[in-house]
Amino acid sequence: MTRAHFGLIGLGVMGENLVLNAERNGFSSVVFNRTYSKTQEFLSTLGSGKKIEGATDLEDFINKLERPRRILMMIKAGPAIDSVIEQISPYLEQGDLLIDGGNSEFRDTERRVAQLERKSFGYIGMGVSGGAKGALEGPSMMPGGTKASYEAIESLVSKMAAQVEDGPCVTYVGPGGSGHFVKTVHNGIEYGIEQILAEAYDLMKRLAGMNGNEIADVFGIWNATEELSSYLVEITEVCLRQKDPFDQETGLVEKIMDKAGQKGTGLWTVVSALELGASVPTIYASLNGRVMSSMKDQRMLAESILKGPKSISFDMGSIEQGMPLLMDAVVLATMASYAQGMELLRIASDEYQYNLHLPSIAQIWKGGCIIRSRLLKRIQDAFNSNPQLVNLLIDPWFADQVNCRILGLSKVVAAAAENGVPVPCLSSTLDYINSYRTGRLPQNLVQAMRDCFGSHTYERIDKHGSFHTEWLD
Ligand code: 6PG
Repeated sequence: MTRAHFGLIGLGVMGENLVLNAERNGFSSVVFNRTYSKTQEFLSTLGSGKKIEGATDLEDFINKLERPRRILMMIKAGPAIDSVIEQISPYLEQGDLLIDGGNSEFRDTERRVAQLERKSFGYIGMGVSGGAKGALEGPSMMPGGTKASYEAIESLVSKMAAQVEDGPCVTYVGPGGSGHFVKTVHNGIEYGIEQILAEAYDLMKRLAGMNGNEIADVFGIWNATEELSSYLVEITEVCLRQKDPFDQETGLVEKIMDKAGQKGTGLWTVVSALELGASVPTIYASLNGRVMSSMKDQRMLAESILKGPKSISFDMGSIEQGMPLLMDAVVLATMASYAQGMELLRIASDEYQYNLHLPSIAQIWKGGCIIRSRLLKRIQDAFNSNPQLVNLLIDPWFADQVNCRILGLSKVVAAAAENGVPVPCLSSTLDYINSYRTGRLPQNLVQAMRDCFGSHTYERIDKHGSFHTEWLD
């Protein structure tokens, strides 16, 4: 009996598409799902006529796989993963390898890598980005674990991943939970950019009074520029052109409830940043934007009580020219999201000894994933030409962008404030850049207060050592 090259557990949409992708790339497969009826349904529809067979139980699944076994789990993050590991472990043999392709918390993955490697099984925590279409056609993949485990799946994932001009969108990310950590930060950047584009839409609607098609035209123009050409800008235009199926006169977006959910990765990015002392205000603002959005009832009540300033008129530039001032703001906030994410990766890499190679991470994000964009080529180049770069914004090309566009961002944020329109990501970005480019911040006074009430001591700018003053005598 010939055994299959590759096994998949979990026939959700992502799992189905990934196994079809593997099979298309020459890897015969066997699939297992908790409910066998789902397996049968898949095999008789999408999986029919392909080198994919089904397994009735885990023992059957294991017996149908060639050794060392390569098994991808596409199941809900959390206890379900531990439960499958427990159930499958008795059947595994030395060298067999489990891959978790979900959005697991990176510390869970650290623990599982250690637990499985102790038993001489391989374990890879692999971020997979690109949604259902990406999974089928070529996602971006972020695998972490031991190098030996990665080498055992390299031929498989290199073929399955999206391909860009300098290779597949997959690389060995690093040890332990680093693959899932990188995916988490990817998602933090994703949250940031989504919110930035939503703020731009809101400004065009509320300050410029534009309709859905006009706003979509601007996103179309932006998507043709080097600075903003990206998957998220592209789908924003698509979303804005979609008509309501119940009312062809109205854009569907206008009928969607303004409450955004989240599954956890944006929150984990911000928590990690706080733990590691990384500054990620644009990303944090996007997370808080979702939290605030979910308080719909309170907001409706407050709308009738709290008043904003009287509106003033503001010209963001013409639609045909892509509203240049607004574009300045969106470009800088997008760059800040990437800069903050990359800085978080740099700090985490030192703290957790992940030894992340930032140019390679930019490279694997250039295709397949949700935050793919032309800007990532610039990010890759920036970290390649200066591996010690502490913040993307001081790379010469990005610094030029900041210096040319900061006035536009400032004007947009000021106009939004004067009109009472919330722009949390744009305004956080402005404060982020202004703080970062200020050599002397007012935290000297904070230090004085801390020392005054709590004898916390302070450093001086002109003498070495730690000082304390009896301020209240
Ligand atoms: C991707 C996405 C995906 C992710 C959701 C997160 O890269 O394909 O990041 O993996 O789960 O987009 O979304 P929410 O937290 O917004 O639900």
